[in-house]
Amino acid sequence: MRLFSGIQPTGPMHIGNYFGALKQWAEMQDAESVYSVVDLHALTIDTDPLIRREYSLDAMASVLAVGVDPLVGTVFLQSRVPYHAQMNWLLECVTSFGELSRMTQFKEKSERQTSVRAGLFTYPVLMASDVLLYRSAQVPVGEDQRQHIELTREVALRFNNRYGEVFTIPEAVLPSAGARVMDLQEPTRKMSKSVSSPLGTIYLLDDPADVEKKVMKAVTDTDGDVRYDPEAKPGLSNLLEIFAALAGETPVALASRYQRYGDLKADLAERLNACLAPIAQRYRELRAEEGEIERVINEGTERASAIAGEVYREAARAMGLL
Ligand code: TYM
Repeated sequence: MRLFSGIQPTGPMHIGNYFGALKQWAEMQDAESVYSVVDLHALTIDTDPLIRREYSLDAMASVLAVGVDPLVGTVFLQSRVPYHAQMNWLLECVTSFGELSRMTQFKEKSERQTSVRAGLFTYPVLMASDVLLYRSAQVPVGEDQRQHIELTREVALRFNNRYGEVFTIPEAVLPSAGARVMDLQEPTRKMSKSVSSPLGTIYLLDDPADVEKKVMKAVTDTDGDVRYDPEAKPGLSNLLEIFAALAGETPVALASRYQRYGDLKADLAERLNACLAPIAQRYRELRAEEGEIERVINEGTERASAIAGEVYREAARAMGLL
């Protein structure tokens, strides 16, 4: 079954990206999976061009380091396949201003900026283009992307009704645990690359000592009862959720095994470090041999272009372009 997902190269990846998306990318990959470092999306954020280039290589290395294998599926850099920008225009003419105005990510992000780029507003259309260009049936993402996939479905349905059956209607696939990892210091806010929270964010490349420090200092509560209750106990429940994603168990089952917050935190830190160590090692190996990443990008571009080109031409023809 065709899968598509993307990740923005906007800085170091954190465990929200991992448990919400990248872990699933590795587990679900097969010959039909298509994964992209979406550097065009990242242009909505102000970054020095030299740093931007590094971020793209870093993101590529992170995707490979978590176990995504370019020999199994397709891995590519979005800007190398021009059909994404072209399809974006076709779909902007199938999407309404009102629909885009309702996107919560746009509302949140635009509130934090003084000058809002038009690209931030049309961002979800580019995302729909990514998914629809590959006729993807499934899109492994974290909870924060659910609304964008919902919009993608609506745009695809509208296009198919108006112009003929060109697109597959995709669905979001969320992990059972870790779909929304919260900030460890402010557990009512999601862990995020775009908000600075040094103690609240665990990066895939953090030192083991830092991981331990951040977990041990994570904000919980004072009632002392180890119980999974995201409403009443957001901090502790977030830790249980992360633990559940690591252990493949439910947060409730894990909670029943602990009496003290400290013991739970210590075990969680150890499990996290055991999970992150091989990822960090593989990342450093890959980043040390840049030719390897460039080769993956070039091969991925060819494979992705072959699929995307065909679907783009079909969509353009259906709309009446000669
Ligand atoms: P991005 O780069 O913000 O995040 C990449 C993936 O990580 C997930 N994620 C989280 N999951 C759980 N808890 C968190 N705290 C957390 N933070 C991030 C995101 O849900 C995402 O799956 N618009 C997308 C990139 C994109 C895309 C696409 C995704 C572009 N085109 C097409 C799917 C299909 C984004 O900004 O992801």
